[in-house]
Amino acid sequence: MRRPVIAGNWKLFKSSVEARELVGSLLPLVNRTDTVDVVVAPVFTVLATVRDLVQGTNIRLAAQDCFWEEEGAFTGEVSPKMLVDAGCSHVIIGHSERRQYFGDTDDTVNKKLKAALAADLIPLFCVGETLEEREADKTFEVIGRQLKKGLAGIHDDLVSRIVIAYEPVWAIGTGKTASNQQAQEVHAFIRSVLCETRSRTIAESTRILYGGSVKPENIRGLMSQTDIDGALVGGASLKAESFASIVNYGG
Ligand code: 13P
Repeated sequence: MRRPVIAGNWKLFKSSVEARELVGSLLPLVNRTDTVDVVVAPVFTVLATVRDLVQGTNIRLAAQDCFWEEEGAFTGEVSPKMLVDAGCSHVIIGHSERRQYFGDTDDTVNKKLKAALAADLIPLFCVGETLEEREADKTFEVIGRQLKKGLAGIHDDLVSRIVIAYEPVWAIGTGKTASNQQAQEVHAFIRSVLCETRSRTIAESTRILYGGSVKPENIRGLMSQTDIDGALVGGASLKAESFASIVNYGG
């Protein structure tokens, strides 16, 4: 049985005051949820604030990115070790917005995954095709490449700790969710790549989340698909009520 993960990616939103308010409202709504891993990913500057609020609760803390070196003359970067120090257990890596606007490539994503794993963080490793790639029938080719290059040189024991997030770029922030079938098809493909390149055990135990306009209205349909094990939620994670109802999709 794969334990579901519902993660909220706050992106570039929430001051420390707003983060306190959000977590304060969220906690009583999700504190009885014991069948799902609940994760929130605030901006770096409020990680410590949120850590203090979620300590001893069922909410886990993620950062939205990391660098691959532990320390050094790398102005503006944050290392996995520093994220652990700030209270993180998880880190998002390879989000399409990082790939699109900040120059992340399959190669740098691979380095970041290795560094995060070495620091004992659980990576939420994002893959996804653009609209252009989907329309050119290249979805599987793109996802296959992102997976193989992203996971290159990572030992099987460590791959099994990674959570994969399928986020079709055309569904992010557009209100246009992939249909249950479209998402399931890619999730099954991701599992088949893991089976071919790793093992059936790894393929069957790896959790694969869907991301892209997930809302309280569509979470149940997505979660009813065989290969969808959770969600990476953007916009709807910024309000306690909507994020909580996604977390509590099971009723
Ligand atoms: P939205 O839920 O706002 O579409 O964002 C998805 C996402 O990018 C989560 O990482």
